[in-house]
Amino acid sequence: MDHFIYKNGVLHAEDVSVNEIAAKVGTPFYVYSTATLTRHFTVFDQALEGLDHKIFYAMKANDNMAVLRILAAMGAGMDVVSGGEYAKARAAGVPGDMIVFSGVGKTEAEMRQVLEGGIRQFNVESEPELRRLSRVATGMGKVANITLRVNPDVDAKTHAKIATGRSEDKFGIPMSQARAAYSEAASLPGIEVVGIDVHIGSQLIDLAPYRQAFTKLAELTETLRADGHDIRRLDLGGGLGIPYQRSNEAPPLPVEYGQVIRETVGHLGCEIEIEPGRLIAGNAGIMVSEVIYLKHGEGRNFLIIDAAMNDLVRPAMYEAHHDIVPVVEPRIGVDPEPIDIVGPVCESGDTFAKQRPMPPLDSGDLVAFRSAGAYGAVMASEYNARPLIPEVLVKGDQFAVVRPRPTYEEMISRDTLPSWMES
Ligand code: LLP
Repeated sequence: MDHFIYKNGVLHAEDVSVNEIAAKVGTPFYVYSTATLTRHFTVFDQALEGLDHKIFYAMKANDNMAVLRILAAMGAGMDVVSGGEYAKARAAGVPGDMIVFSGVGKTEAEMRQVLEGGIRQFNVESEPELRRLSRVATGMGKVANITLRVNPDVDAKTHAKIATGRSEDKFGIPMSQARAAYSEAASLPGIEVVGIDVHIGSQLIDLAPYRQAFTKLAELTETLRADGHDIRRLDLGGGLGIPYQRSNEAPPLPVEYGQVIRETVGHLGCEIEIEPGRLIAGNAGIMVSEVIYLKHGEGRNFLIIDAAMNDLVRPAMYEAHHDIVPVVEPRIGVDPEPIDIVGPVCESGDTFAKQRPMPPLDSGDLVAFRSAGAYGAVMASEYNARPLIPEVLVKGDQFAVVRPRPTYEEMISRDTLPSWMES
């Protein structure tokens, strides 16, 4: 459920008319709903009620400072994958002991940064990373808490580019090498083993792969405990999918996911950690764009809008579907017609939807892309020197720009000229 609904024939974000925001900030832009963000966090928290658990929001989904602050104020920890994310999480007020550090290529500089600033645990993804972390931590006179991310070789049945738990994927340590890796970890100075980590992919719409992976994790927990390791935390990653296509998708609910967790690892007495990103932020945001032209091609029509693949790359990158709705509710009885919805960037890949049934739209009309709160603004670029689009946060009947659109001057001044060039 989200808080983007039609009121008096106009799409609203909570109690604010999207038309009103557009008039104030100009198109295209992202809008986030505070009520939806808080609701999704609460739903996860309730799904794990009774289990000793912590939620680490995967901030790669949406790392706007205002979003981070909302979640941090609710007690969310953060799952970070870079020094930059760590710095932002800390700036949002998240204490180091509520931050877990994931990622397949942590650099020495990043290790130093988070050990210095404080960190709950490193989710280590390889033996070389483990050895480097031991060296860095020892050199600093610190002890790094670690889990090892294992690769359970489970097919998450999601888009190939976001499946991470198969042996062909670059992530984690193969199950078959786990015992040896744990034994090495236990012998290294500056390293304290605290648990196991797994993350099998993103946008999962079936619970079966989770059940498989968590069952393997439970077995591994028993084995490692028998080997003498103190496995007290299980980080189960994120990945629960959201309904991008409301008409025919019904992914599992967090409560059902929570049930799988209870059934597979609930008996182990471990602290359960999860890292949801998309499910918290995805349906808490929309992207709003204006139609520039309606172009009649041969055999098909094109709706050319002012947002492009650089603003929302998911359709171009993952063939992802986003529901696209007119901001002014279509009149009842108006038949939708198939149309291609495209951006102005000079690539055919800059296509948001092909032959999508839409009500009649023309220049100046506004459309909203649903489910754009996760992996939207964070993946945007300034390709074609198109300024990053603004982000707006709504709370009840209030709204505020939480990241302004840069001016052309700001964009130009980011580049610096070498001394040998005349300015
Ligand atoms: N934990 C780890 C270690 C991850 O790699 C990810 C996502 C998450 C948690 C959060 O997964 P989520 O709950 O958001 O599914 N850009 C792609 C998604 C990439 C996901 C990468 N890792 C997209 O737009 O679909």
